[in-house]
Amino acid sequence: MEKRWWKESVVYQIYPRSFCDSNGDGIGDLNGITEKLDYLKELGIDVIWLSPVYQSPNDDNGYDISDYQAIMKEFGTMEDFDNMIAAAHERGIKILMDLVVNHTSDEHKWFIESRKSTDNPYRDYYIWRPAKEDGSLPNNWGSCFSGPAWEYDQATDMYYLHLFSKKQPDLNWDNPAVRQDVFDMMNWWLKKGVDGFRMDVISLISKEPGLPDKEPGINGYATFNVSANGPHVHEYLQEMREKVLNNADTMTVGECSGVTLEEAKKYACSDEKELNMVFQFEHMDVDADEKTGKWCTRKMNLCDLKEIMTRWQKGLQDVAWNSLYLENHDQPRSVSRFGNDSDKYRELSAKMLATCLHMMQGTPYVYQGEELGMTNCPFDTLDNIRDLESINAYHELTQQGKISHEDMMAAINYKGRDNARTPMQWSDEKNAGFTTGTPWIMVNPNYTKINAMEQLSREDSVFRYYQKLIRLRHENEIIVYGTYDLLLPDDPDIYAYTRSLGADKLLVVCNFSENTRTFSIPDQFTNGSIMISNYKDPTIQNNMSIRPYEAFVIKK
Ligand code: GLC
Ligand code: CA
Repeated sequence: MEKRWWKESVVYQIYPRSFCDSNGDGIGDLNGITEKLDYLKELGIDVIWLSPVYQSPNDDNGYDISDYQAIMKEFGTMEDFDNMIAAAHERGIKILMDLVVNHTSDEHKWFIESRKSTDNPYRDYYIWRPAKEDGSLPNNWGSCFSGPAWEYDQATDMYYLHLFSKKQPDLNWDNPAVRQDVFDMMNWWLKKGVDGFRMDVISLISKEPGLPDKEPGINGYATFNVSANGPHVHEYLQEMREKVLNNADTMTVGECSGVTLEEAKKYACSDEKELNMVFQFEHMDVDADEKTGKWCTRKMNLCDLKEIMTRWQKGLQDVAWNSLYLENHDQPRSVSRFGNDSDKYRELSAKMLATCLHMMQGTPYVYQGEELGMTNCPFDTLDNIRDLESINAYHELTQQGKISHEDMMAAINYKGRDNARTPMQWSDEKNAGFTTGTPWIMVNPNYTKINAMEQLSREDSVFRYYQKLIRLRHENEIIVYGTYDLLLPDDPDIYAYTRSLGADKLLVVCNFSENTRTFSIPDQFTNGSIMISNYKDPTIQNNMSIRPYEAFVIKK
């Protein structure tokens, strides 16, 4: 397997709005990030993925961009950006920009032009269609944020396509001028010194010709995934590779909604003609419900998770490269979802989840606060919710009678995106030390107990555990490149696997339950040594008793 720096790196995702506010307006900003680079250096990460910092009216918190070459006012200035990137590079930390080019904001100058007239030079930058002959919408596609994916526009008596909010019109990638403008913009950022891109819903950019009706989903519309892996997506990414990405030593990760293993082998193929790796979603759907999709409080079945992760670990071995994540700004907190966030088990289970993920093959991503074991937030009322996905889904699904008010609020508290977007918990001071002003979204009340300052003061904290996992990965090639093999596929509580590289071998054992279980250590590991563990000093023996949420790694 070819060695690459981006295979050996650990990435930390920053959601700037919620990371650190330097000027007391209640909104995180670039200078706030710069202030905290030493914290990230101490954690040991190599790369920062910065959620969007471009100019935006913030319908979807920066994922609706009105100028790709300007910084969002609330976040600071271009000079602040340049300072931040220089300060990161000084510390050996690379920066990935979030590239959101499936759509722009409706306030982007291209769209302002496009909607003016059918012969405007920018008309074909977007996807315009008239109503069907019977006056109905151009097709039955739905927006990811509820309702149809079409918005009527008076000026030309036509509809435009928006797979996300109506303030996020989809770009027409079949238009070569669109592609060239995007490539020029990307080259401009590379020249500025950024080290690569995380590409937002990049699997959706190539739409099926004729935009046909599709099988409707839960809310009556076909889901946005109808556009996943379209006919020209690989061609367009290869063009991007040639015209942009090959101009520098870049790292790229594509957010690929609806990606299958077979498609991932193309996007992230080791011939390096497209992207370095993709974010797949199968393990994020592991606890979805048939009737209400993600909006439920169902717990996953561990065997399903093992099956999915193993299929991707084995499937991409030697032919492509995995990314590893349990959290990001679109997902709830993993300790509340896959672990146990009670006082008794929160730290243990957060470390267990980290062990399970960080010992796999692929590039690990840590989402801000995950390294503290931050939990979901008790929002309780819709007034406390800021995320348009949750708010729109609440209205749509309760009005359609698909779910009761109580169940939907429970689902939002459990799965809503705002769980990941509450302010980073720096200290037990007012507002968790995030801001001296009024935070744009509520602070999780548990910040008095769960915060970075407290965890830095303690050797056995979740933070220190992440620090150790990251260091181990940097020091042991087997953690990066070793082959993965699953043990006990049918065990409902224990996730155990091995990694092998040459004569070296690791055994990873993780208890996902509160049950104490016995586990028989394979012979070749009984004389091994503990590399890391979340309980003090487990004693390796043939029939080992595995305690609640226990995790350890044995080196042969
Ligand atoms: C991606 C982003 C998400 C955003 C959506 C539309 O899924 O991660 O936050 O809302 O794309 O840009
Ligand atoms: Ca601020």
